[in-house]
Amino acid sequence: MNNPFNPHNTMKSIKDINFSGRKVLLRVDFNVPINDTGVITDDTRMRESMPTIEKLLADGAAIIIMAHFGRPKKGGFEPEFTLLPVAKHLETLVGRPVLFTQALLGSGEPEQMARNLKPRDILLLENIRFYPGETKGDDNLAQQLAALGDCYINDAFGAAHREHASTAVIASHFPDNKYFGFLMENEVRNLERLMQHAERPFTAIIGGSKVSSKIGILENLIDKVDNMIIIGGMRYTFTKALGGRIGNSICEDDKLDLARDLMRRMDEKGVRYYLPVDSVIGDRFANDANTQVVPSGEVPDGWESMDCGPKSCQAIHDIILASKTILWNGPAGVFELETFAKGTKAIASSVAQACKQGTFAAVGGGDSVAAVKQMNLADQMSYVSTGGGAMLEYLEGKTLPGIKAILS
Ligand code: 3PG
Repeated sequence: MNNPFNPHNTMKSIKDINFSGRKVLLRVDFNVPINDTGVITDDTRMRESMPTIEKLLADGAAIIIMAHFGRPKKGGFEPEFTLLPVAKHLETLVGRPVLFTQALLGSGEPEQMARNLKPRDILLLENIRFYPGETKGDDNLAQQLAALGDCYINDAFGAAHREHASTAVIASHFPDNKYFGFLMENEVRNLERLMQHAERPFTAIIGGSKVSSKIGILENLIDKVDNMIIIGGMRYTFTKALGGRIGNSICEDDKLDLARDLMRRMDEKGVRYYLPVDSVIGDRFANDANTQVVPSGEVPDGWESMDCGPKSCQAIHDIILASKTILWNGPAGVFELETFAKGTKAIASSVAQACKQGTFAAVGGGDSVAAVKQMNLADQMSYVSTGGGAMLEYLEGKTLPGIKAILS
């Protein structure tokens, strides 16, 4: 019997469905970085949705794409948030024209374009966040969008944690015709493998600047992992909680008790937690700062710890290589400054090496993903998530509205 909450349920996957002659409403996450000259600097999210788009084109469907870009707030068209550069780039990826208009629904123009679509036509709607109803999850907007097509596919994992009109509410208008796209299915399958069927030892490497932004994930992982490696700026809150001297290193003093509590709970559960034993410290937050390596709990005043030291990198390498499953979220140090990027890069290399030995490793979060991409190691990871906040919320154990809307 089909389990309705299993995303591999064939009723929910597009794999075995022929969309010939259908008008498909496809929600994607094309929220990509665009520089001042309008050039997309990383199109990973777009390329990752190509298998879904190509499948629909091969079937002979017409596609109406809904996407957001940035966080426009005014309500209505704002030139700096237009999807025009995305439309142009999409044309190069699919190798065919992409219909696009900056006119919004209600003007009649996008409605007419949607009506006139022929098989294998692609229409990209202008930034869906130009409608105030989108982020409010307004059902009137969801209905307006639903009227354009005859089935709904959600491939926007990066926005699956948003209960918005086009990411979640719209699905209720297609009770029998709503599906995951391939990107979404792949993300959910990999995250399920991580959180429900992890082969042991399972090691989580959690970094980033603030404990406060990772509390949920740390708490949820305590029940799942064998090893917890705590890196990045957030580790100094733990080091200080243990009585270490951290100089000017970043620290959340109001989270010291929480850090102690997390360490106590990890001890109770038998989770081995690892805090870097040495640190690369600098006298300034700059690439040309004076640096030295010191034991992590002995950072002098006036100095700031900004990366893991070599002993820590070696110890982390050994733990990684002894693991069968790895989750890595968050950098080891100030990755954006080359002088302090070595720890993060060392972890990326170690994880890639583990993957070669058959370890399953999932990477998520802006800087850790940037590190593996910068080092051309993304292809060597088992899985690199396209979702930032969405992946984090999934790992915190939350139900993502975009996923729930398809499964319910
Ligand atoms: C992202 O970039 O993480 C997603 O596109 C979601 O964007 P948001 O945080 O603006 O909702």
